[in-house]
Amino acid sequence: MKHIVAVEQFEREWVLDLFRDADRMKSVSARDGLLNDRILATLFYEPSTRTRLSFESAMLRLGGQVLSTENALEFSSAIKGESVEDTVRIVAGYADCIVIRHHEQGAAARAATVSPVPIVNGGDGPGEHPTQALLDFYTIHDELNQFDDLTVALVGDLRFGRAVRSLAMMFRMTSNVNLLFVSPDAVPMGDDVRQALNAAGVRYRDEPDLGKALVVADVVYQTRIQRERFATQDEYRAAQGIYILNEESLALLGPKAIIMHPLPRVDEISPAVDADPRAAYFRQARNGVYIRMALLNQLLRASSN
Ligand code: CP
Repeated sequence: MKHIVAVEQFEREWVLDLFRDADRMKSVSARDGLLNDRILATLFYEPSTRTRLSFESAMLRLGGQVLSTENALEFSSAIKGESVEDTVRIVAGYADCIVIRHHEQGAAARAATVSPVPIVNGGDGPGEHPTQALLDFYTIHDELNQFDDLTVALVGDLRFGRAVRSLAMMFRMTSNVNLLFVSPDAVPMGDDVRQALNAAGVRYRDEPDLGKALVVADVVYQTRIQRERFATQDEYRAAQGIYILNEESLALLGPKAIIMHPLPRVDEISPAVDADPRAAYFRQARNGVYIRMALLNQLLRASSN
């Protein structure tokens, strides 16, 4: 793979290999110099804490260097009308790999068509977030030692949440998994993802009762209602505050189940949940560094051959 644009590029054996590399990355430091003299550019047209900083941390830990524009919409020449394609053509002359986050679905794919260096989709509007899906799957594997034979509740904004859309697509490479879609009426899982799951034979159903989902779930993947994607604030308010995880939820959840969240959270997980050992979301965010180290190492070594 030259570019990482969408989860449909991934296959099970490649993912498992990447997980083994990510395990090894836990003991790698900049002193090992795996990517000495290589430069990563992070081109972010939308806000980010985890994706941008974990990619940058990953590159620095591999011995490489980083060029960053954290508000490209305002502080790059996008504000003068430059297209993503032109910007990428230029930045590819300054860096060996580009991580791009953009508000338009498909922007990373467009960038990949013109880029001579690897493009990584760091989130394209309500489209996909494939490296988040990799770190989410890595976390499930790390916490439960499996990603087959699971019941997984996907909760919250399944329409606009690109992380949860990409995660759902990852289950195409598993067996005997049940997905429960627990979403407000306004933000159901999209037909595109449902069709892909149908084609792969993955079982799923809508489950409006969060309590019922919690009782049977091995993994509860909670998500934020994506305020910035709604046409009006009234529509946002109609979808918001319906599914909240709190201390009462913990009482319903099995002893070995885990709670995940791509973060940031607003109010959909009470801080009272954080201290419970089943709350895996901060460990999940940390895993982003190791997965992204493994990914950058693979992409940049392949591109130098
Ligand atoms: N999970 C995630 O994409 O977080 P950021 O928006 O902070 O990058």
